[in-house]
Amino acid sequence: MNSIEIRSTILGMGISVPSRILTNFDLEKIIDTSDEWITERTGIKERRILEDGENISKHAIKASFEALKEANITPEEINLIICATLTPDYLIPSLSVLIQDGIGARNAGAFDLSATCSGFIYGLAVADQFIKNNPDWKILLVGAEALSRKTNWKDRSICVLLGDGAGAVIIGKSSEPQRGILDFVIGADGSYWELLTLKGGGSCFAPFDERLPKEEYYIKMQGKEVFKIATRMMEKIALELLKRNNLTSKDIKLLVPHQANLRIIEYLRERLGLPKEKVYINIQKYGNTSAASIPLALYEANKEGNLEKGDLVLLIAFGGGFTFGGTLLRW
Ligand code: ACO
Repeated sequence: MNSIEIRSTILGMGISVPSRILTNFDLEKIIDTSDEWITERTGIKERRILEDGENISKHAIKASFEALKEANITPEEINLIICATLTPDYLIPSLSVLIQDGIGARNAGAFDLSATCSGFIYGLAVADQFIKNNPDWKILLVGAEALSRKTNWKDRSICVLLGDGAGAVIIGKSSEPQRGILDFVIGADGSYWELLTLKGGGSCFAPFDERLPKEEYYIKMQGKEVFKIATRMMEKIALELLKRNNLTSKDIKLLVPHQANLRIIEYLRERLGLPKEKVYINIQKYGNTSAASIPLALYEANKEGNLEKGDLVLLIAFGGGFTFGGTLLRW
């Protein structure tokens, strides 16, 4: 079999989110904001937040066990674990290694992938390459974020947006070559890096370096500027993927975009000429969960019966860096 005939596909999925819910009304009590503003400007009604002492590795492991069960494979059969995250439990060890230990995947290599909100799309692209070269491999790809731990609860321009959660998929060779990952785009533009940052904890400054203001230990974003570029780039990626596969948006059964802002999603939907029922949205429940957002949405879209065998699915993401990407899948 040559590599053209080998297609990788999702064999199983799982998710896990903290049980603690923080509503817009809860936020009204701690900062100068309102449910009306958050709902109108972002579409978010509530988000999940880790309890004190609870770590995101717990949810990454729980989501992974569910994905393994659905794929009907054992942890020992996993060859590689990729965890897309910008908020691992620790800098050393990686979150992927904690997952490897937590599920008992003793035959797997493991690494974290840092591509902010596009991390899951980057992870799919990487997994796809491994499967093409090692068709018998099984890969566990996790998107997991503890964004609440990097949230400045005094900065209303960002704290209303973010949430925690984890989604996992098992990637392996498709038994039907027409199904699975058909194509992907990954891209980056580092010239915009200063619009979305988390400087504290990096190696520019030693820990507790007093030259670095305390706010820099949290995610900072120039939302308006990010918004403009996100809308432009997400549309560009979607059109590029459709065009080079000789498809139009009419061929797409479901668009599952990164859930950063309902207005960004609506803009993309309108530009692609898609009806509302062809775009999956769960931002109202989870907010922006960065690398976990697409697996959380894809999982729920599937569980709610939105996907049937043979459907074309388009995943599109955009995040800090900037990074961006898209995946075209046949379900
Ligand atoms: N509650 C009430 N008022 C607020 C809040 C809030 N939470 N936040 C800001 N405001 C105020 C501002 O102070 C401003 O007031 P002013 O006009 O008196 O100065 C007004 O609301 C409008 O603020 P804008 O920033 O212009 O609001 P905008 O409509 O742009 O919405 C938002 C802000 C939601 C952040 C939007 O710009 C956005 O979603 N940006 C993109 C986010 C994104 O896609 N991120 C990508 C990935 S994130 C990642 O990688 C982790």
